[in-house]
Amino acid sequence: MDDLSGPPRSEPTDDPGLAGRIAVWDAEAAAYDDPADHGLRDPAVRAAWSALLLPLLPSAPARVAELGCGTATLSALIAAAGHRVDAVDFSPAMLERARAKVAGLPGSPVRVLAGDAAHPPLTADSYDVVLCRHVLWALPDPVAVLRRWTALLRPGGVLVLVEGSWSTGAGITGAECVALAEAADLEPAHTPLVDPALWGREISDDRYLVVARPRRSVAKQRESGESR
Ligand SMILES: C[S@@+](CC[C@H](N)C(=O)[O-])C[C@H]1O[C@@H](n2cnc3c(N)ncnc32)[C@H](O)[C@@H]1O
Repeated sequence: MDDLSGPPRSEPTDDPGLAGRIAVWDAEAAAYDDPADHGLRDPAVRAAWSALLLPLLPSAPARVAELGCGTATLSALIAAAGHRVDAVDFSPAMLERARAKVAGLPGSPVRVLAGDAAHPPLTADSYDVVLCRHVLWALPDPVAVLRRWTALLRPGGVLVLVEGSWSTGAGITGAECVALAEAADLEPAHTPLVDPALWGREISDDRYLVVARPRRSVAKQRESGESR
């Protein structure tokens, strides 16, 4: 189901600014892949993202949802490692590029779906990993959003969040992201992403990875470890 025409097919949204934000991202789409960390055209930068993300996934084929996928660079990277990805974005121009990027992948491992990442048009209890890079910070009511994303996870699943507080003034700090995850009943693990190989240059702002597991599944894991 990868109909990219028309408006997003997600649940009704409570976000009155949505149409304006879609227009903003549509305007960004043509040049979106130009920065090294966006298009991953430099093999060294691509390798750095592979080394960061692939070890966070279970054995292939895992089911992954990428929310706010942009041109689907990360979805394509993950699919190339044998995983199956549902990639969601609300910008028709980003979706068009995402679809073109994944079109040649053997076995069509990426479904590109139009929808609001805050209300993903995806089935609950279906994913090993919900991945989101550089989107959570801009969504209204991020705690509610994290709860919706958690509902997409199968038992044992994880949220993989890559965010930042950028020199432009946009974004959320690592501490803020951790606090949001905790408020959504997640157990977050925060890792600063300072390696210039990820960004294609030295950085001085706050960029990080948060891997967050639902508290209920962490508690279950501990219980089963103790009862052994
Ligand atoms: C900074 S880009 C990140 C793209 C991709 N995650 C990456 O890391 O290359 C933000 C993307 O999120 C999308 N986006 C922002 N808010 C969204 C929402 N509420 N629903 C769906 N997509 C959204 C934008 O259209 C854009 O493609």
